[in-house]
Amino acid sequence: MDFSKLQYYIIPTNWPQRNEHLALYNKAYIYWRDFWAEVLRDLGSHETLTADTFVRQDIVTTIMNGDEIVAVHLYDFFKLDCQADLEHTYISENYPKEFIEKLNKNGARTAMSMEFLTIDKNWRKQIIGFQMSSVLLQLGLRVLIQESIDAAIAPARNDLKMSQMSYTLGFECIIPNVIKHNVSCDLVACFPKKVKNHPDQTVSKLIGSLWENRIDLRVNPQARLKSA
Ligand SMILES: CC(C)(COP(=O)(O)OP(=O)(O)OC[C@H]1O[C@@H](n2cnc3c(N)ncnc32)[C@H](O)[C@@H]1OP(=O)(O)O)[C@@H](O)C(=O)NCCC(=O)NCCS
Repeated sequence: MDFSKLQYYIIPTNWPQRNEHLALYNKAYIYWRDFWAEVLRDLGSHETLTADTFVRQDIVTTIMNGDEIVAVHLYDFFKLDCQADLEHTYISENYPKEFIEKLNKNGARTAMSMEFLTIDKNWRKQIIGFQMSSVLLQLGLRVLIQESIDAAIAPARNDLKMSQMSYTLGFECIIPNVIKHNVSCDLVACFPKKVKNHPDQTVSKLIGSLWENRIDLRVNPQARLKSA
């Protein structure tokens, strides 16, 4: 497997940048929409995703292999002392008060949701030999630190061992075993000081190189889009 062409993109979702990066944004959206329609169907979930969920995000990240989407992950920022944010349906429907209280106890005033962890079927562990999801998650934690947000939060699937994998990277279980889309998930959080390096040195090197060579379209809107 050739990892040398992999490119990590951080895509802003706000105007006017969004207009300049529309080709990549569109590609990520269409991929996300179709991928998750299938995942939710397979899980027997009655939920239908709408574009509103994608548009709500603050940041869309992707790993591309040339024109091919390898991974997508969505991040939304919330203020934990802002009543409207606490009553936002993403927060109020996914995280009980007890979860927010535990974040507060850890001194967190802001949180970044990590949503819709997505790895293309051709880049799954059985094919490439390691979890690309752990690469994406580590890169996401670097975004968290770069943005000076106090906590990353997510529901992590237990059946696919995503909770277990997240714990190796520094996440902790805040509330175990809640059912989302008919599967057991742990509600997890990671605080910047608790972030751990990836335990596998080769994977850690790949993460380092993807981060160093990232194209952050918020910082460098003129960057040539290899995948657009
Ligand atoms: C979750 C996901 C990102 C992980 O991708 P990945 O890092 O490549 O890892 P894989 O899916 O290949 O495998 C992860 C583990 O789950 C296991 N697994 C995979 N599919 C499985 C299945 N249908 N049933 C049971 N276990 C399964 C694998 O054997 C592996 O376990 P191991 O570490 O003991 O070998 C990817 O499976 C995906 O995109 N799934 C659909 C989207 C999703 O549910 N995302 C939310 C996750 S919180």
